[in-house]
Amino acid sequence: MFEHLPLKRRRLLCGLLVGGVAAFVGPFVYAAGKFLSYQGILSGNATASVPISQLTEANSSALVEVEGEPVIVVREPGDNLRAFTATCTHLGCTVNYRPQLLIGGSLAPGFYCRCHGGKFDANGVNVPGTPPDAPLTELKLVQQGGNLIVSLVPRTSKT
Ligand code: FES
Repeated sequence: MFEHLPLKRRRLLCGLLVGGVAAFVGPFVYAAGKFLSYQGILSGNATASVPISQLTEANSSALVEVEGEPVIVVREPGDNLRAFTATCTHLGCTVNYRPQLLIGGSLAPGFYCRCHGGKFDANGVNVPGTPPDAPLTELKLVQQGGNLIVSLVPRTSKT
């Protein structure tokens, strides 16, 4: 393509062309990597561990980090153990678990975000009328001995 130009100028143009392509493609590659990482496809091995004994009736949740992402592990009434992303889907504050949260006029377990009063029900679904407009993601939780192992892999009906 640049054969008619002197060698020095050809190298300069090729360098500029390669640099331009890299500058154009780089952000897409970065965004795809972050997405795949969040989905657990690239980082399926990244986990955090929570001792089951840490989750008591009086202290029914634990906040941990997996690859810098806050994750909340909860012991629901009836001793059901679950994990959710803890990043509020409104503007990104960290939510906390409340065994007694006022939702729709009655008290029920749920997640609360202090920043702007965001609420999510016990399944992580955003409560209408509060700022968040998307649910929290339930994550895969595995019991190994006395510990709960959580990763950023979303829970499916099979897990
Ligand atoms: S950041 Fe959670 S309600 Fe706004």
